[in-house]
Amino acid sequence: MAQTRTAEELAKKQKEVSVAEFFERNRHLLGFDNKKKALLTVVKEAVDNGLDACEESGTLPEINVQIIEMGNDRYRVIITDNGPGIIKAQIPNIFAKLLYGSKFHTLKQARGQQGIGISAAVLYAQLTTGRPAKITSRTKKGKDAYYYELHIDTKQNKPQIVKEEKVEWKHEKGTKIELDIEASYQKGDQSVDTYIKETAIVNPHATIIYTNPKAEQFVFARVINKLPDEPKEIKPHPYGVELGILKKMLNDTDARTIQSFLTKDFSRVGSGTAKEICEKAAIGPGTKPQSLTHVQIEKLMEGIKNTKIINPPTDCISPIGSAQLEKGLKKEINAEFYTSITRSPSVYRGNPFVIECALAYGGEQQVDGSIKLMRFANRVPLLYQQSACAIFKSIIQTNWRQYGLSQSSGALPQGPLTLVVHLASVWPPFTSEAKEALAHYPEIIKEIKLAIQECGRKLASYVNKKKRIHAESKKRSYIEKYIPHVAEALTELLNLKQVEQAKIKTLLENLLEKHRGKLSKVEMENIEYDEEFAKIGKEEKKKQ
Ligand SMILES: Nc1ncnc2c1ncn2[C@@H]1O[C@H](COP(=O)(O)OP(=O)(O)O)[C@@H](O)[C@H]1O
Ligand SMILES: [Mg+2]
Repeated sequence: MAQTRTAEELAKKQKEVSVAEFFERNRHLLGFDNKKKALLTVVKEAVDNGLDACEESGTLPEINVQIIEMGNDRYRVIITDNGPGIIKAQIPNIFAKLLYGSKFHTLKQARGQQGIGISAAVLYAQLTTGRPAKITSRTKKGKDAYYYELHIDTKQNKPQIVKEEKVEWKHEKGTKIELDIEASYQKGDQSVDTYIKETAIVNPHATIIYTNPKAEQFVFARVINKLPDEPKEIKPHPYGVELGILKKMLNDTDARTIQSFLTKDFSRVGSGTAKEICEKAAIGPGTKPQSLTHVQIEKLMEGIKNTKIINPPTDCISPIGSAQLEKGLKKEINAEFYTSITRSPSVYRGNPFVIECALAYGGEQQVDGSIKLMRFANRVPLLYQQSACAIFKSIIQTNWRQYGLSQSSGALPQGPLTLVVHLASVWPPFTSEAKEALAHYPEIIKEIKLAIQECGRKLASYVNKKKRIHAESKKRSYIEKYIPHVAEALTELLNLKQVEQAKIKTLLENLLEKHRGKLSKVEMENIEYDEEFAKIGKEEKKKQ
């Protein structure tokens, strides 16, 4: 017979779960599902933070990444940035408290979102090696540098300070984090090496110095000495708000009336629009926000939906820019033809976004013959969950044959092509906390397809021209091969002197030239860029 338990007995087992305890069990949700991925995730969280912090503080980023193999599947990861540093009092919370950050409550384009990146890496280190996180930071030249060793008290989701001291540090400002983790290192598609290289492509304003566990050092030097435009912070757009959020906003607002709530707490709502929403929701514009009933809140949602509201402002997005993206691509990928495009802003669920696409054709081919796809969101490479991503879906739904590549259904096209797709948004819609794939919003898929098509058309004209020239030169060489024989036969048939044979040959050659026209060269659109970067590339290689 099944056991029977009373509610009182069951109640003894019911208690709060701290967020740290939750992620201790569910580390796969944050990108720590296996040792190889764990290494990538730790590096990624620290590098993304370093880049975000540098950009926020107006510093051209210089990030140093070092991975040291310690044996027994243990690695030491050391990441140093030249950013603004972190004030002493905040260091423990930032690194040893989950869901603590500056970005969750602001709508602004950044790499980080939830405030769970770097503390999750610290938690993973603690779980797998038991070693504390070691942090050094200085906020300004001339100020003291502080060193911390931290653990996370997972029951309370609170920092535990193991060591705290003032130290000598050679860096003027910035932050250094050192973590010992259980991991495994492999080269290839989903490796740290790939992540760093792709990061360098979409962040041509950053210098990254990377030393891998084999003690090989790679320097990815910046090619643009200007920071991207700083994205502005925006208020949410009414179209993007969900019922629960609206309820919370109504409760928390300082506004005294619904009308002023709508105009103050949202973007793009003027008093006319606010009045229209209220009218459609059958709520008086002077109603106190906190007094709305559940039914009225639902009506307010309806009112928003039925009112035409202009799209959100787009200065909250800072795309890479097509010229910059192309520069980044040229610096890291050898190819014959490059093209790129930045689309104008569009909106999904009230969130503005911009799609950028770039491609490099004619370089190395992948082992399986398919194109190399690089996916990015807010300048961060996405290396896992490719087939679950809206970018992948958009690519396989595009007809690549029209651009001169072969393709079987449901698969990536085939050919020597590197394709870059970037989504910039205040809130990229990831399918999970691990931030690996973009959700399938129709608006996003449509924009990606349009971007691909624009680049694809340019690619097609290059590929077709190349094919035509190839076919033509094949035909020519065929004819050219027979010209001496024809000349010889004619000389014999017409009983001409031997000296005439050379003349006939020249005449035939002229005839060929006249009939088939000059063999043109395939010109690259921006060849001058390429030369500039070929030079930089060579100098970099020499340095290494
Ligand atoms: N290297 C750094 N330099 C300056 N500030 C940092 C650095 N790393 C993290 N921070 C701060 O700590 C916060 C928490 O970081 P994190 O846990 O990765 O969450 P998120 O990046 O999602 O906000 C960031 O929002 C930022 O304010
Ligand atoms: Mg982060």
